[in-house]
Amino acid sequence: MQIFLVGGAVRDQLLKLPIRDRDWVVVGSTPEEMERQGFTRIDANFPVFFHPKTGEEYALARTENKSASGHKGFTIHAGPEITLAEDLRRRDLTINAIAKDIDGKLIDPMDGQRDLADRCLRHVSPAFIEDPLRVLRVARFAARLAPRGFRVAAETLALMQTMSKDGELGTLSRERIWQETRRALDEPSATTYFQLLHQCDALKTVFPERLNTQTPADDLEGALAALKHAQALSTKASIRFSVLLAAIALKNEVTEVKLICNQLRAPARYRELAELVITVYPLITNLRHADQLLALLEKLDAFRRSSRFRDFLIAATALAATQPTREPRRVIMLEQAFLKASRVRRPATGKTHDSGIRFSERFRQLRIEAIEAL
Ligand code: CTP
Repeated sequence: MQIFLVGGAVRDQLLKLPIRDRDWVVVGSTPEEMERQGFTRIDANFPVFFHPKTGEEYALARTENKSASGHKGFTIHAGPEITLAEDLRRRDLTINAIAKDIDGKLIDPMDGQRDLADRCLRHVSPAFIEDPLRVLRVARFAARLAPRGFRVAAETLALMQTMSKDGELGTLSRERIWQETRRALDEPSATTYFQLLHQCDALKTVFPERLNTQTPADDLEGALAALKHAQALSTKASIRFSVLLAAIALKNEVTEVKLICNQLRAPARYRELAELVITVYPLITNLRHADQLLALLEKLDAFRRSSRFRDFLIAATALAATQPTREPRRVIMLEQAFLKASRVRRPATGKTHDSGIRFSERFRQLRIEAIEAL
């Protein structure tokens, strides 16, 4: 048996990027032999195994034939006769189809290194269209690599457009779509993911309710401008997500944000921040007096949940930057009010119910006075 490092690890090594996972391909072996060597099979229907010591994934070289619709509709053929070149030919992008042997020699029948040098995301073969997930993957890789000058090849973009038109993306599970979208939000140019999906008319897959073909181009541009500010301010996917959703829904309501989050199966942490931003951010425009500032800080639960409040402030800063009517100055005021009010020391508490109420009122009053001194 021969073992090769493949896929993202080779690509990222060549790009001098940190390596996330290492995937290996095994040529000339069988499931029985793998198990005899101590590997554990991950899935009975799939020839992929965990290494006994490293836990890394080792897959038998395989070919795939489309047998049904969707991301998983393939008949897999793995056998000792499948060559490395055949395995590499079934892959999505040329830059993901480079292998490295144990001596460090690169095997690159699809010319992935040339595309790495040309900064080009190019599909390996027409079989690219058989897996709808690849549309999202390419958009995600573009989000990662656009700042390094990478572009999607025109022929690949054309295939992505065809795949979207054919409706194959509709077969992807909501969870898988979220997984790709969340990972894209982590990338340096998250905006590129949404721009590309829009270009190939695939945004309706990610946001069935909004940001689809009916979305006016101006709305999309506005939302992506806000996201661009957010990605410059923070690498946190939850902040970027909340800004994008709030920017889409600003002229609408929180119900829309809820709907999109439900459709996306976004986890609670993401929903919570997105709903907070869309509910509270519009109130910032009316901030004038110290008591209003304190009331808003209380609404945000800023004193108890200061980390979430900081996330809110970043999101609000990004939104304010794209909206001249909602002055960024007010966001700064809110932050300063928070800093002042959090330094106020609690007065001594009383023992009776009445004195408890008086204590809270006194405490609020002291906080208001601190904010007034701004
Ligand atoms: N692959 C593919 N088509 C897919 C998924 C994966 O061709 N739909 C191939 C690619 O060769 C890819 C490899 O399987 O490089 C490993 O896939 P995965 O681990 O999902 O992604 P990586 O390319 O390693 O990228 P990432 O850094 O995002 O993990």
